[in-house]
Amino acid sequence: MPSRSLPTYHLIGKLKTPMGSGGAKKASHGPWGPGQSGAPTLSSVAKLLRDDHAYQARNVVVLAGAGISTASGIPDFRSPKTGLYANLKRYSLPYPEAIFDIDYFREKPQAFFTLSKELYPGNFKPTLTHCFFKLLEDKAKLLRVFTQNIDTLERLAGLPADRIVEAHGSFATSRCIRCKEEVSQRWIKEKVTAGQVAYCPQESCQRKTGGQGGLVKPDIVFFGEGLPDRFFACLDDLKKADLLIVVGTSLQVQPFASLVDAVHPSCPRILLNLERVGEIASYGSGGAGGLDRFFGGMRGAMNEKGFDFEGWTLPKDKGKEHIRDVFWEGKCDEGVEELARELGWTEDLHRLHRDICRKIDEENGSTELGKQQDESLARAQQEAEKTADEVTSQLEDKRHSDDLAHRLADLDVNDGKGETTEQATVEQVETLKRSGGPSL
Ligand code: OAD
Repeated sequence: MPSRSLPTYHLIGKLKTPMGSGGAKKASHGPWGPGQSGAPTLSSVAKLLRDDHAYQARNVVVLAGAGISTASGIPDFRSPKTGLYANLKRYSLPYPEAIFDIDYFREKPQAFFTLSKELYPGNFKPTLTHCFFKLLEDKAKLLRVFTQNIDTLERLAGLPADRIVEAHGSFATSRCIRCKEEVSQRWIKEKVTAGQVAYCPQESCQRKTGGQGGLVKPDIVFFGEGLPDRFFACLDDLKKADLLIVVGTSLQVQPFASLVDAVHPSCPRILLNLERVGEIASYGSGGAGGLDRFFGGMRGAMNEKGFDFEGWTLPKDKGKEHIRDVFWEGKCDEGVEELARELGWTEDLHRLHRDICRKIDEENGSTELGKQQDESLARAQQEAEKTADEVTSQLEDKRHSDDLAHRLADLDVNDGKGETTEQATVEQVETLKRSGGPSL
């Protein structure tokens, strides 16, 4: 995967946007318009998406994290009990993030491959939240979804590839980390589902490494690797955003987390999450071990930027209606349902979700059918081989019998009549067997 490594501060500096052109529209009562009284809510955000509202957000940018996929059965990373990092004890890692650390992977790749077996796409379906993104696209309101997720569920929800930025890569492609040669999906899937470490199948690579080949890894961005070029190429979208939806992320990993502050200073932002994260003046935990690489040694530092849900940074003369950030606490699927309800999109959202899930079921069904057909073909082949073996062995017996008969005839034990019928032969063989017979 082509990549580029930029330190966090470089990125934040680069993204600082001047007030003015291309940003969100100027509003006299905060971004919410004259009808807003008091602090904004999810309902205020929904109004910005309504076609009959003066604002009419048309360049919605979404920043998504693992929380949007938990309802499909994929654990997030940092939730205290259910998160992936809390459940990695059996891998004996030096620190949880090591499972996605490129240096650790080079040394001990088995842990990653064992985990990949559980996370590999194919077993999961998009959630209502993924479908809400697709709905935004269908309603011509979506500019881009930046996702940290590697599960490809945005694609499965039907979002076109050019609407998605997979900031941390995905399982969709894989390559040798040594010769960079891409391997087929089928090949890597076989390795992953068998929980096996994958080594490059290229002969040239195997020759150069003395037989085994380089390690093959899905194009997921590991700690210590650069983000994909596409991430940097799409950064300008943030400047164009007229509504930022941040959903299901702890905003613990840079440079992704800094995107929250890359939008225009008046762009309304909503966080749909189980907990408050990414707030200004809060202390960033910085995570453990390998995260220092992304945080550039800023563990425990005070955030100078981030969400301001309380209006701490507002000038004294501005009322709560000027707050631009909204925190909606809860499961994101319920949050998008509420947004959809406010917008009169409930039916659209559920129909979309149903259709997508049905399509995936059908596809899995046909794959399952194909698998069953393959299995029954294999069984039929085994049967055929077994039958062929039995026939061969019977023919073999028959040859022995004929041979015996001829030898008996030669020995003149067949009454001198030269009978060579099968019945005669069998009887003669039985006679010979009973008498101890000649060794064949
Ligand atoms: P985290 O696990 O760090 O954060 C998930 C957030 O979603 C937490 O704040 C949860 O409370 C919240 N959450 C969980 N379920 C939710 C739900 N149903 N509705 C709403 N919120 C929910 O995941 P990310 O922020 O995505 O890197 O993690 C960022 C990166 O760290 C990942 O991309 C990964 C990891 O190391 C790589 O894979 C390279």
